[in-house]
Amino acid sequence: MIKRVRSWWGGQAKQAEPDIAPDNIPEHVAIIMDGNGRWAKRLGMPRIMGHQNGMKAVKRATIAADDLGIKYLTMYAFSTENWTRPKEEVDFLMRLPQEFLSIELDELIEKNVQIRMMGHGELLPSHTRQALEEGIERTKHNTGLVLNFALNYGSRLEMTEAMKRLGARIEAGELKAEEITPELIDQNLLSAGMPDPDLLIRTSGELRISNFMLWQIAYSELWFTDIFWPEFTKDHLLQAVAEYQRRTRRYGGLK
Ligand code: FPP
Repeated sequence: MIKRVRSWWGGQAKQAEPDIAPDNIPEHVAIIMDGNGRWAKRLGMPRIMGHQNGMKAVKRATIAADDLGIKYLTMYAFSTENWTRPKEEVDFLMRLPQEFLSIELDELIEKNVQIRMMGHGELLPSHTRQALEEGIERTKHNTGLVLNFALNYGSRLEMTEAMKRLGARIEAGELKAEEITPELIDQNLLSAGMPDPDLLIRTSGELRISNFMLWQIAYSELWFTDIFWPEFTKDHLLQAVAEYQRRTRRYGGLK
């Protein structure tokens, strides 16, 4: 429930932090960080400034998620379709993981954050891959929040690759078609080992999923906001989690 603080003149002045029940925190929150370009354009700046400020919002969301006790935070940072953007924009986006980690890695290590990457890393430029590999290596024993970057990620490609792998095992006689189960499919996705997202957030007012974790979000609660990603603060995460806590998850059953 959102508590409203009354101002001295009796009107509703500002929103206080919503009440969050500590026993119902989503374990896995996934975010489609959208609206960087529009945010920059609105301020008369080049699109890349939106991405630069989007990186700062990644930091805010990470700290807020960690404070709340969220265990997995997956951020959609670059899709398999984003390569079609102008080269300068792609190059800029590919430098952000390095920049982010060069600024934030020590603090993330201090906070026991574990960095992971979900996507086709082999197709990333070597400088991007190396920065991520270093972040992943240096945090691999951490036991706190898992900060999972979806980079060069696309759900259809992920599922296609999983099907090819299972098909090859059938061809090799190692697996029978009837032995394929949802759990086996889970194990062959890039998100293997992580729980499905409980809450999916998308910023910028777009109401679509854009090829993001299509299998894994089967029963996720969806939360959309009109704000652009660079504007995202702890308060937005709290609003999303408060709304999540107001929902009844039925997984197709009855309550
Ligand atoms: C979509 O907004 C956003 C992206 C394609 C990139 C998201 C990347 C970041 C927020 C920075 C990631 C930081 C790290 C550390 C990896 P858009 O540009 O499509 O916005 P628009 O729809 O307004 O054009």
